[in-house]
Amino acid sequence: MVVIEKLTETVNFLKSKIKNKPRIGVILGSGLGHFVQHMQIEASFPFGDVPNFIPPTVEGHSGNLIFGKIDNVDLVVLQGRLHFYEGHSMETLVFPTRVMALLGIEILIVTNSAGGCGDGMKAGDFMILDDHINLMGTNPLMGPNIKELGPRFPDMTEAYDKTLIATAERIFRSQQTFFHKGIYVAVTGPVYETPSEIRMFKVMGGKAVGMSTVPEVIAANHMGLRVAAISCITNLAAGISQHKLNHEEVTETAKKVEQKFCAFLKEFVTKI
Ligand code: HPA
Repeated sequence: MVVIEKLTETVNFLKSKIKNKPRIGVILGSGLGHFVQHMQIEASFPFGDVPNFIPPTVEGHSGNLIFGKIDNVDLVVLQGRLHFYEGHSMETLVFPTRVMALLGIEILIVTNSAGGCGDGMKAGDFMILDDHINLMGTNPLMGPNIKELGPRFPDMTEAYDKTLIATAERIFRSQQTFFHKGIYVAVTGPVYETPSEIRMFKVMGGKAVGMSTVPEVIAANHMGLRVAAISCITNLAAGISQHKLNHEEVTETAKKVEQKFCAFLKEFVTKI
């Protein structure tokens, strides 16, 4: 089956099960899945129950597609995502994003865990993405363009919506949560970076580095969505950190800041 047929099958399945059209889509990164506990949940589907969805394999990612509300705002939430390093094709990675767009969302909020290489960063800080550098070596829009979804050569001048960035800044300030704003560098993983790679990313202007987000952001821009993305800086990047990196540190830091993160996200979805 070609992608557009698979998308149609999945979207029809979901539309037959849900009452309200979601306005905002949220992708929850590693260890940030508890946000759904703040929602009034209307329907929840393990990825395995959604036609054409593939269950994730990484620890800290549950893999549910959840529909519900926060303060009367209709949301669809991906609790858990697929990563390129798991061996999936880019097309598979962005499938859920495309489904959310076809279900009618106008805004996509993407969250992730990332290593920090910006000045003054520490583990547990947040960063609002204002741009990215794609070093994944490929692109989810490779191959014949699916014209039903968007143009062949999408503009990426404002991949991260300026109005959404301004609102995110206002909310972080009002909640007295320290944050950064900057460029996210996307790599494939699964290895963490070498110190030399991190020095290069800093020269390029990067402040955070991670193994996700950019494919979804590209697919969302292709389909004309407004996009916001927030990183939880779970660790200082290789060579900046005083110790070796490990996945436990990433999930532990994400867990520690989850309350603050949920407080931010709850307010954000009601103000945009
Ligand atoms: N590098 C890449 N991805 C990450 C990191 C990191 O240091 N921390 C969390 N995700």
